[in-house]
Amino acid sequence: MDKMVVMGGFQLNGEVETSGAKNAALPILFSTLLAEGEHTFFNVPFLKDIESTSDLLTTLGCQIERVGPALKVQVKKAASLEAHYDLVRKMRASILCLGPLLAKYGEAVVSLPGGCAIGTRPIDLHLDGMKALGATIQLEDGYVKATAKKLVGANILFETSTVGGTENVMMAAVLAEGRSVLENAAKEPEIVDLANYLIAMGAKISGHGTSVITIDGVDKLKPATFEVMADRIEAGTLLIAGALTKGEVTVKKIKHESIDALIVKMRECGFQIDIGSDSVTVRKASGWRAVDITTNPFPLFPTDLQAQFMALMTVADGTSVISETVFENRFMHVQELSRLGADITPKSRVAVVRGVKMLTGAPVMATDLRASASLVLAGLVARGETAVSRIYHLDRGYEKLENKLSNLGAKIRRV
Ligand code: UD1
Repeated sequence: MDKMVVMGGFQLNGEVETSGAKNAALPILFSTLLAEGEHTFFNVPFLKDIESTSDLLTTLGCQIERVGPALKVQVKKAASLEAHYDLVRKMRASILCLGPLLAKYGEAVVSLPGGCAIGTRPIDLHLDGMKALGATIQLEDGYVKATAKKLVGANILFETSTVGGTENVMMAAVLAEGRSVLENAAKEPEIVDLANYLIAMGAKISGHGTSVITIDGVDKLKPATFEVMADRIEAGTLLIAGALTKGEVTVKKIKHESIDALIVKMRECGFQIDIGSDSVTVRKASGWRAVDITTNPFPLFPTDLQAQFMALMTVADGTSVISETVFENRFMHVQELSRLGADITPKSRVAVVRGVKMLTGAPVMATDLRASASLVLAGLVARGETAVSRIYHLDRGYEKLENKLSNLGAKIRRV
């Protein structure tokens, strides 16, 4: 199994480009099921989760190939309407095939994703949305069996802001009869990207990016060409990497609006952050203050940057209180950061991080995608060598992270 070995103490400097956003590409790839023909995408990152999505789409009858910078998805009438457990358990986002299959074929059988490391992550809100659109849902043998003669538009109020739930229901509603109004819809930029692709295919959607999305169902969609947005979580991770090593790093191909919550907090720490038209630069700092963060849905501080920000706080001046409100079990990196000498007390959904002068390299284990990024970041400033094992978590969501970091001056290698 691959490990990432980081030799700490090297300052990062220079420019780095953001890759395409995994969390936008996944729902967009599943949305191709809504329209037969050839879909063409640019800026789809090379990642394990994209491979898992391609594997699942292939079992549903699609053909996926990379042609130069493009990823082409050839969609034929679905060969099967079942997303098998073996594929869904590898990637929870597989549940996103439910909405498109149900809307297009009136039927779908999708394995329940089960629990995952960062919490139970139920899909009740996805299913409630499908039911509101007129689907009959049965849970049998670990599978969701959904049927509907014809989906009919409805008003749906999400009890909690859910990114996947909003995406799944939006993909179902585009082919439903009449108008659907999604209230308390998630506002994440990835929702906007998906909506824009659905619109490019002919869907009638407005209000995406706000908490009320209105969808007027159409009879048919057709394939289109689309460039996936930049990965705001990767961009944020790279900025934190530059900051931690007291270097000057410009992250290119990123709109600052997608990471404003991070920028605000980094400025509060004392970092100078400069904003360009499609870049963000963190300037050299000799030290930084500890600040508190609370994760929340967009546009507030993203849960997907909580672990990385915690790495920054481990060597800050003072004490930081980090509150996780989105997932119930997202502090697994605390134990591992502590192995590097961090002083952190976690209690339920709050972690108190007392800044220390220095971290020390040690073998650590990645427990989930963003936790693994936080360990690599901590390794960049720990004295000596940090070996992060179970790096497959990192490969699910970061494209060539070790190359990007070594181009900036990090001493990092995969073994
Ligand atoms: C997506 C992102 C993930 C990010 C998360 C929150 C993808 C592929 N993944 O995950 O990286 O961390 O948004 O920004 O885009 N919930 C329910 N019932 C449901 C659905 C969700 O109770 O039916 C709860 C979840 O357990 C969680 C909260 O709602 O506590 C938010 O989850 P959600 O926004 O749905 O996250 P994902 O779409 O799974």
